[in-house]
Formats: sequence, structure tokens, C-alpha cells
Amino acid sequence: MASTALKMLVDVHSHVYLPRYTALLRSRTTVPLIKTLTTPDGKPDDRLLILDHEPSGGRPVGPQYWDRDEKLKFMDKHGIDVTVVSTANPWLDFLPPPEAHKLALELNEDLEQYCSSSPKVDAGNSTQIPRLFGFGLLPLVPEVSVSSLLESIKQISELPHLRGVIMGTRGVGKGLDDEALDPVWEAIEKAGLVVFVHPHYGVDPKAWGEKDNGHVLPLALGFPFETTTAITRLILAGVLDRFPSLKLLLAHSGGALPVLSSRLSSCVVHDPVVASRLKHDARYYIGKLYLDAVSYGPEEMGFASESIARAGRYENGSQETATQKALSVKRSLGSKRMMFGTDHPFFPPLSTTEKWKSVVENLQAIEEVQGWSEEDKDGVRGGNAVELFNLKA
Ligand code: URA
Ligand code: ZN
Repeated sequence: MASTALKMLVDVHSHVYLPRYTALLRSRTTVPLIKTLTTPDGKPDDRLLILDHEPSGGRPVGPQYWDRDEKLKFMDKHGIDVTVVSTANPWLDFLPPPEAHKLALELNEDLEQYCSSSPKVDAGNSTQIPRLFGFGLLPLVPEVSVSSLLESIKQISELPHLRGVIMGTRGVGKGLDDEALDPVWEAIEKAGLVVFVHPHYGVDPKAWGEKDNGHVLPLALGFPFETTTAITRLILAGVLDRFPSLKLLLAHSGGALPVLSSRLSSCVVHDPVVASRLKHDARYYIGKLYLDAVSYGPEEMGFASESIARAGRYENGSQETATQKALSVKRSLGSKRMMFGTDHPFFPPLSTTEKWKSVVENLQAIEEVQGWSEEDKDGVRGGNAVELFNLKA
């Protein structure tokens, strides 16, 4: 019988500050926090301050950050069928272990409720699925106990609408190359959860100089540089050799990792400390990753997909050579690990527009990638996420 599977638009990079988390931000006097200013005509004006050196006195924040109806309205406006929602940065990073532990468990339950009570959408073949799924939180803070982390992983794996975890780049204080995380990777791998690795801290703000460039430098460069460094360290620590089935989804198309992976490989083989540490050439590990398609340009998306696809030839023992495959074959293969995202509610348009430019641009870029077939584009728009997150189950 012919399949009646529908083409779906699935957003894998979309954030929320759940009401319980928003209340915490409002109660705080140090960053991260939400503070309420007053406009010249006497109206309340909420500001979000989450970065250590938050430029421009913070960002305007409103119901689109916490109200589920606003998320659904945004999805309707942009034709998004399903969203896999994650708490926005900085998660629980700033809390002491007991509070982080308690809040992780509570927020995971809140997110399950947020998703399970969402409207459903037709996924074809007479299947209706919820419009909202989620990434849970772990209490990833210094000095947290392993048992607390494992308890949250177990909880998430048992909550039916949570299909992964979102995490920053600090781990339990020493980054994602810390051996203390091995029990966490092991449990996540066993549970089959997707790890969405997302930046927050950027790089040393001294790099940004003295000119006021708003949020451009920390967001456009600092965020993806942070992801690049964190995942490079994770690769160099052999995490993907020890946990080869770990599903890591990187924000912002993996930052600079695709474009720097050959340089990384060269530095590794010329360095006596690292040269014999990894099982494979450093480029091999790019092919083990999943990337969101949040890079706003068809060339960047096409190149990222090529980097994923060529990784196979850097597996130890592979006979594959550089010239065997046409561009379309390579990019098509790599596209299977890429997925549409919006970064909502961040990057709202500066003036009123029907649709958000940040969303329209990513969709247009997917449409224009050279070498991606219509089927590949459908995969990036939704099919790949349906499969990775097992959304029809
Ligand atoms: N700015 C943030 O702080 N977080 C995001 O996810 C995007 C923009
Ligand atoms: Zn984001």
C-alpha cells in the first residue's frame, strides 16, 4: 500500500522559560534575572539579563518566552507542525546542587505537562501526534552527585513526551571532556536520548573590543565558538570512542567545527601528546554528530552536510577516497543528520512583520542548498527529526 506519510515541518531548536523558571528569574537580583523597568508612558517593561556581560541593559522579554499559546501561535504563523521545546539558557547552571536537583525534576514534569496537553497534528497514515515534545534538564552543576544526575536521566526517559536533554558546555564545572561525566553519557546513550548541546557563555568578552555592537558579537560569534571548543574537547577526550552511539545534536550547525575539522585533524596528528589518542582521524567524529540547520545560509548548510558525509572516509580502515562521490551524493548523505530550527523566541523581528525573518531565512536556505534533492530538503524540514526523536511512537 502506498505510504500516506505527510511532509512535516519540525522545529528542533526552540526555547521556553516555563512559568516556574520565569518566577525564579523574577525573584533574583543577580544575573540571570528578569527585571521590570517602566516605559516613559508608565507601562511595565520586562528585561531579560542572562549573559554575564549582557549588552544594552538586557533584552525585551514577554509572553512569547513562557506562554504556550504564544508558542503555538508562532508555530501556526510559520507552518510548523511540531516543535521539540527546550528550556533556554542558562538552564540550572547557576544553582547549588540541591536546588538544581529539585528544580530539574519539577521542570521536567512541567515540560511533560506542557507537551502532553498540547493539541495534536495529523502525521499521516491515520496517526495523530502531539505538536509539542521536549528536551529535559539535568542538574549539571559543580559538586552534584552522580546519583542526582542519573535520577533525572531516568525520569526523562520515563516521561513520554521528553525525547532528549538540553545541556550547556560546562558539564559539572570542568567542561564536556570531564571523565566525571562518563556515567552520564553512559546512561543517556543507554536510554537513547538525544543531547542538545547549546552555548551560553561565549568566549572572553575582551575579544569584543570597546565599541557597542549590541548583542551581535556574543551571539553571532561567541555562541558558536563556545560550541566549537566544547565539542572539540569532547572529541579529543575520546567521549565518542567510548560512547559511539551517543546522539549529540549541536546548536547553530555545530559552529565552526565543520570548517575547522581538517585543521583540527592536522594539529592532532602533529602533536605528540594527542597523536595516538583517538581511534579515528578527528574528521570522522563530525559524521557522528547531528546539526541543527540554524545557520541562515544555503552555502553553510551545504558545507556542513558535506563535512558530515565525508567523515566516513576518515574511519580507521575505510577504503573510501576523496574523489569517489559527486557533490549531490555527499551532501544528500550528510543532510540526513541536519534538522530545521528557529531559535524562537530569540531573534524576533525589529519591526512588525507577518513572519519572522530569522525563520523565513532558514527555510529559504534549506530550499536553496545545492546538491540537496527535494527528498533531502523534506528530511531536513521534518523527516529527519521525526525519525531521530521517534515522534510517531
Ligand atoms: N540568545 C540566547 O541567549 N539564547 C539563544 O538561544 C539565542 C539567542
Ligand atoms: Zn537557542
